[in-house]
Amino acid sequence: MTAANFEITDARVVQLIDAARDAATRAYVPYSHFPVGAAVLTADGTVVSGVNIENASFGLTCCGERVAVFTAAAMGHRTIAAVAISAPRHPGTTPCGACRQVLNEFKPEAADMAVILDTGGEPVRTTLDALLPRAFGPRDLD
Ligand code: THU
Repeated sequence: MTAANFEITDARVVQLIDAARDAATRAYVPYSHFPVGAAVLTADGTVVSGVNIENASFGLTCCGERVAVFTAAAMGHRTIAAVAISAPRHPGTTPCGACRQVLNEFKPEAADMAVILDTGGEPVRTTLDALLPRAFGPRDLD
């Protein structure tokens, strides 16, 4: 996959959903019992997953999407072409507002980011622009 070509094929969708579902089994959710797994696809085709990680001090909880994005960024990735989210307790869960903003930071420069929701059946495909219209992002600071 090149930076100029972010077409998310059906095979990629299946791969990302599988990774998000697998990740969800490792969520650390002793308080909410609401596991979330996320998988991001970077510009070079790497898939990086994350899970929600809760804390006894509840406000310190980090969502699965942000853990996936931050892990990918720590690995050196700077562009995320797609993200899949799997929340078995509530199929079709979308990223929270904070996670939408964090995802926006690593949106491809000339393309939208694909957001793939695990419904338990046929995945739903949407985009970050649809979930976070007129977003404030890094290019606003140029
Ligand atoms: N959560 C996520 O990880 N991602 C979302 O998109 C929604 C909410 C987590 C936070 C918390 O651990 C649990 O789900 C219940 O809010």
